[in-house]
Amino acid sequence: MRDLNEGNITQAVLSSLANMPEGRLRTIIVKLIQHLHAFAQETGLTEEEWKYGIDFLTETGHKCTETRQEFILLSDTLGLSQLVVAQSHRRPDSATEQTVFGPFHVPGAPEVPPHGADITNGAAGEPCFVFARVSTTGGEPIADALVDVWQADSDGYYDVQFAGWDLENASLRARLRTDDKGTLSVRTVYPRSYPIPTDGTVGLMLEAMHRHPMRPAHIHFMVQKPGFDTLVTHVFSDTDEYLDSDVVFGVRSSCIAQFLRHKAGIAPDGTTVNTAFYTMHCNLVLDTTPTA
Ligand code: BEZ
Ligand code: FE
Repeated sequence: MRDLNEGNITQAVLSSLANMPEGRLRTIIVKLIQHLHAFAQETGLTEEEWKYGIDFLTETGHKCTETRQEFILLSDTLGLSQLVVAQSHRRPDSATEQTVFGPFHVPGAPEVPPHGADITNGAAGEPCFVFARVSTTGGEPIADALVDVWQADSDGYYDVQFAGWDLENASLRARLRTDDKGTLSVRTVYPRSYPIPTDGTVGLMLEAMHRHPMRPAHIHFMVQKPGFDTLVTHVFSDTDEYLDSDVVFGVRSSCIAQFLRHKAGIAPDGTTVNTAFYTMHCNLVLDTTPTA
C-alpha cells in the first residue's frame, strides 16, 4: 500500500479492515469511512478547514462536564438525535411519538401521589394544572405506569442549572404512578419557550448558521411500563411561536396540546388561585415493545 492518491485512498483504508470480523461494528466503520471521505472530496475540504473542524470538536469536548454534554447538544441541533430516535421507535399513528431525551432529566426524582401534588417548589411561573392519561393504542387505560415529568421554569431554567442544586430540593420534576384509570394530575407552572445553552461551540455554530437557539414551550414525559416501549416525549404548547423551528427538531403533531388560560379563582384541585392559571390535558399512548 503506497503511492496512494485521491482516487484510491478510500479503497486502501477499507482494505485495511480485511481482518476485522463481520458484524455491526464493521458495518458502521465502513460506512463512516466512506461517508467521511466522500464529504472531504465533495466539499474539496482544505487543510485549514479541517484544522478548524478539529479545533471545533476539541473545544466541544472541553465544554463537557458532569452536567453539560456539548456533543449531545451538537447532535441535537444537527437533527441527528431526533433522526436516530425516530428510526429506533417506529410506531403506529395512534401511538405518541418518541422525541429527544434532552440533557435535563434526572433519575430518581421525588415520587409523588398520582393526583394532587404541587411540584412547583418555589419555581417561577403561572400555575398550571396538568392532567395526563396513559393508554394503549386501543384506548385501554394503563394503570401503575411509572411517569417521569420534568420541565423548565417560566424563565427557561431547569432546577439542575442553578448552583447548589440537589435532588432534595428538586422543583418542576417528579415521578408518579398512574391510577386504575391510567390517569395522573399534577400542579406545576406554565412552561415558556427557552434557549438551549449557547455559551459553547453549539452557540457559535448556530450563530454561523443564522439560526435561533429556541425550543418551543414544553413539558417532558417519560412513561415506563413492562411490555411497552418506554415512551420519551414532550407535550408542546399549541400556541408557541417556535413550534415550526424547534432548534432540536423535536416537535411532533401527536405531542402538541392546548394549555387553556383561566381567570383567577377556584382551580381544578379545589384550591383558590389568586392569579390567572392554566389547565392542560394530554394523552400519552404507548406502543407494545418492538419484538425485532
Ligand atoms: C430540552 O428540552 O430540555 C433540551 C433538549 C435538547 C437539547 C437541549 C435541551
Ligand atoms: Fe426541555
